[in-house]
Amino acid sequence: MESANFHYDRAMLEWQIELGATEAILDRPVNRYDAPAAEEKPKLAAPSASGVTPAVKVDHVAVAESAAAAAGTLDELREAIAAFDLCDLKKGARNLVFSDGIAGARVMLVGEAPGRDEDVAGKPFVGRAGDLLDKMLAAIRMGRASAQAPVYITSVLPWRPPQNRDPKPDEIAMMRPFLLRHIELAAPDVLLLAGNWPCQALLGKRGITRLRGQWTEVAGRPALPMFHPAYLLRSPEYKREAWADLLSLQKRLRDG
Ligand code: URA
Repeated sequence: MESANFHYDRAMLEWQIELGATEAILDRPVNRYDAPAAEEKPKLAAPSASGVTPAVKVDHVAVAESAAAAAGTLDELREAIAAFDLCDLKKGARNLVFSDGIAGARVMLVGEAPGRDEDVAGKPFVGRAGDLLDKMLAAIRMGRASAQAPVYITSVLPWRPPQNRDPKPDEIAMMRPFLLRHIELAAPDVLLLAGNWPCQALLGKRGITRLRGQWTEVAGRPALPMFHPAYLLRSPEYKREAWADLLSLQKRLRDG
């Protein structure tokens, strides 16, 4: 919508902010009323013997599973995720956030989902939570860029959920095959599950306060749930538990 009237434009902007808009996604507004109504075309299956073509529902998880299985390297996996169009989060995200750190590291950390900073940078853990994560890893002489003790980092979801809302169960379910393949291809000795969503995706349960600090197994590899750094920023009183978990990781790497 265009107007030469400053006060009118300003009132429209304030109205949007009141409705909860926190950032501009495009350079200019799109008037959805002008756009031609998109026709929802059902995906069609091959014609049956009778010649009738039945409409079938696409199984998002099955499509994700075969795309993930076909990826033979981490680069191919990134391309397969970039080409996966069935997760609506992709439409609202600026960038795909695939990973950071050194592939092949002994430790792979799985976070939750990109936030605003990560969406802009196309890299996981670059905001305040990322700074805290780097400090936590440095405290046990590890780091995503460390040549001696590197950590490889990814997240359950590669696209930012709008307004940082919680991921929906179907979003986790359809991105899970990519995450499992990611773990397989990166082949770490040990997994760190930072927060509730990696626990939900990989252990099928949440409750990080109860789960943290207890070693478990994911895809045949030892896995340690721990608090997400963003949670520690909000609740610094839990840093003591996070420190205990880091020491437990250090011991595991030394013993194993
Ligand atoms: N927090 C996460 O869990 N993942 C990211 O990619 C960034 C922040």
